[in-house]
Amino acid sequence: MKKKTTVYRCSACGHTEPKWLGRCPSCGEWNTLRESEAAAVDAARDSGFSLPLSSVDPAEGVRVSSGSAEADRVLGGGIMKGSSVLVGGEPGIGKSTLLLQLAARAETKGRVLYVSGEESAPQIRLRADRIGLAREGLELFCSGELGAILAVLDTTRPSIVVIDSMQTLHSDEAGIVPGTVNQVKYCGMTLADWAKRHGSSIFLVAHVTKDGQIAGPKAAEHMVDTVLSFEQSDGDVRFLRSTKNRFGSTDEVGLYTMTAAGLVEVSDPSSIFLVRREGAAPSGTAVAAVWEGSRCILVEVQALVVPSKAAVSRVNSDRIDPSRVARIAAVLERHAGVVFSDRDIYVNVSGGMRIAEPGVDLAVAAALYSARSDLALPDRTSLFGELSLAGEVRPVKRSRSRVKASRSLGFDSVYGPAHAAGAEPDDDGADAKVVADVRRMVQVLFGAVGRPPR
Ligand code: TYD
Ligand code: MG
Repeated sequence: MKKKTTVYRCSACGHTEPKWLGRCPSCGEWNTLRESEAAAVDAARDSGFSLPLSSVDPAEGVRVSSGSAEADRVLGGGIMKGSSVLVGGEPGIGKSTLLLQLAARAETKGRVLYVSGEESAPQIRLRADRIGLAREGLELFCSGELGAILAVLDTTRPSIVVIDSMQTLHSDEAGIVPGTVNQVKYCGMTLADWAKRHGSSIFLVAHVTKDGQIAGPKAAEHMVDTVLSFEQSDGDVRFLRSTKNRFGSTDEVGLYTMTAAGLVEVSDPSSIFLVRREGAAPSGTAVAAVWEGSRCILVEVQALVVPSKAAVSRVNSDRIDPSRVARIAAVLERHAGVVFSDRDIYVNVSGGMRIAEPGVDLAVAAALYSARSDLALPDRTSLFGELSLAGEVRPVKRSRSRVKASRSLGFDSVYGPAHAAGAEPDDDGADAKVVADVRRMVQVLFGAVGRPPR
């Protein structure tokens, strides 16, 4: 007979150790390791013992649509059965609305349970009516008490459960004071465990504090499969991003706007990120074709260059990394003969999109040059490409998609890098006009190069 083995399991995060330790090496909590029987721990975590691969049911991994194409993309192709998802965001951003919509529209045949410790059932009903949600089989339970929630889970066996919010969860088993980090972690972990064991998908809502930390639930991030954050920039758009995803990439961004009828998907992002003008665009603006997740978005990059007020010049840019902007300014200074070192630089992206993609470089360079020289770019021009320190325009991924997306929005002059070495030229005409380096870009777009480099 197999000898019973003892392990020490952290009551905060579920981590196990063969020996007792004063501090959990996984989550850093003190005095949380408890003696447990290894088999019981395994069963509790449903990791069980090893299985023959052939005995694993492939249908276990199936996904269902959340009813929102944007959320599906961010989740990695829909809601994964048995997965746990943490959804963080500031109060008022629309988490409850998003998850109520998801609960009502998810394409599951099973039951869906929406647990709220924040609002009463009539309040939720009113909101659902107002945004036109109806679902047979959507059930509400208003409580934050772990034992009561588990009892309802055991009787309803929902295939999707939403917990709104983690901060309202409490259990006598995790100490007397509700709302503490330990309470939130313990309850969240217990519910995520329940969901995993029963093949249910669970969404845990978490309020984040102003400094962006998911207080308490931050500690829960490692125990869930996916962490989503719901945020808003200065514009109207709300961004749903994933910062962790066991079942998909973390590059995707889902876009929504809040209307009187709830959250509405932005399926044509360029309509929001492009500034449409009657006449020509002013100097200091350039349109970039950037690749976000799995689609091309056209955004307007705006630059302002003014004499420095201090001895050191500053770069103000919160949508594009300021060090990237400073590097591009330096490249222009060296290779296109314009001086930025006695100037303050401001860079913005219309619509408030944050861009970390290297393909935005060329448009940033064009916007900076345009701002500095006060010469506007030609109409209906878009750009993409990464800039090297030597001023070369480097190839970036998906160049043809960028050209096509630009043309479909009326930008007929698309400037970009030459194809990567070895790539076949395009036969359906979706090639960019090649600009080999930043000096050439300035010649082509602005008709001249300023003072030759020193
Ligand atoms: P809410 O989902 O309650 O945010 P959170 O759960 O993240 O705190 O909703 C946020 C705001 O959205 C709220 O102030 C009211 C507004 N709202 C609308 O404008 N239209 C709607 O249809 C709904 C449901 C809410
Ligand atoms: Mg809420």
